[in-house]
Amino acid sequence: MANIIFTPPLETTMSTLQGQRVLNNRFQLQEMVGSGGMGVVYRGIDRKTQQEVAIKLLNYEMSDVPEAKLALEREARKEQQCQHPNLIKTFGFYQEVDAGYKVMEYLKGNSLKRVMQEFKLHRVTVKGKVLQEILQIIRQMLMGLSEMHGRGLVHSDIKPSNVIILPSGQVKLFDFGIVRSVHNPAVARTTQTPANEASIFDPTTVAAFTPVYASFEMLTGLSPSQSDDVYAVGCILFELLSGVHPYHRVSATEAVENNMTCQCPKGLKSSLWDVLKPAVALRKIDRYPSAAEFLAALDAVQKRKRFWFF
Ligand SMILES: Nc1ncnc2c1ncn2[C@@H]1O[C@H](COP(=O)(O)OP(=O)(O)O)[C@@H](O)[C@H]1O
Ligand SMILES: [Mg+2]
Repeated sequence: MANIIFTPPLETTMSTLQGQRVLNNRFQLQEMVGSGGMGVVYRGIDRKTQQEVAIKLLNYEMSDVPEAKLALEREARKEQQCQHPNLIKTFGFYQEVDAGYKVMEYLKGNSLKRVMQEFKLHRVTVKGKVLQEILQIIRQMLMGLSEMHGRGLVHSDIKPSNVIILPSGQVKLFDFGIVRSVHNPAVARTTQTPANEASIFDPTTVAAFTPVYASFEMLTGLSPSQSDDVYAVGCILFELLSGVHPYHRVSATEAVENNMTCQCPKGLKSSLWDVLKPAVALRKIDRYPSAAEFLAALDAVQKRKRFWFF
């Protein structure tokens, strides 16, 4: 397992850029390492500091859309607002004539998505050291989220592809593209964000979005709350422990409509199930209100059962 989680990342298969574009005479794009709905992510070099960086640049279709530029700027600002070892470190948002881009630390590690795929491929048995490592990943995710939650922010897009595990075992959450404010979402929508950003980037309206980690409240358009992120982490923990999604990869809305319940995965200690169950609850009222409560419950059971569980 240690080998699976902490193996060196696959070298990117994408081609190195021809001509190596330099942005603002400072950030040299080297190779593409990822892409998403509105941006392309490159590994690059900051010529000023000689540091390796990651650069998220709006893609061709989005580079002329003012709302997209504002959304990326807002993403960078939210990331800069939260500083924590388990959250991406973002240096800033910059502009060139035809480009808006954000610059962040380059994360050279494996995505949690890949780790989960490897688990399934190798039919890894979850016990002993493997269990400890899984809980370490989840604890770090919850620590990063606690920092955000304490600032009244909800990540809103926690999923395995937005989590990277570095070779040291350090976990980093990134992609604050749809982070929402809890205190006063109405204010956040009208003053802090561009007027029509919500309709373009709202998680519930993005077409390609597979909502298997989104909470029921999020999918039904209710106000953001920290417990939205708890649901996502709960689903991920369930999947890591059992190999399957708690509601068989159906959305929380469909799970509610069909009165689905989730059962304790086979072989899981009841003490750990007691901690996990309130995280994957479909209804907010039954769920931990924020990452801090989930983390406290996990820590308490680990302390109590230290000699029994591992
Ligand atoms: N700081 C980074 N270091 C290394 N790779 C990154 C970094 N940020 C993003 N990536 C890669 O680029 C992909 C897309 O980035 P992300 O910010 O998640 O964009 P999107 O909002 O389109 O999902 C990620 O899944 C990851 O593979
Ligand atoms: Mg992403």
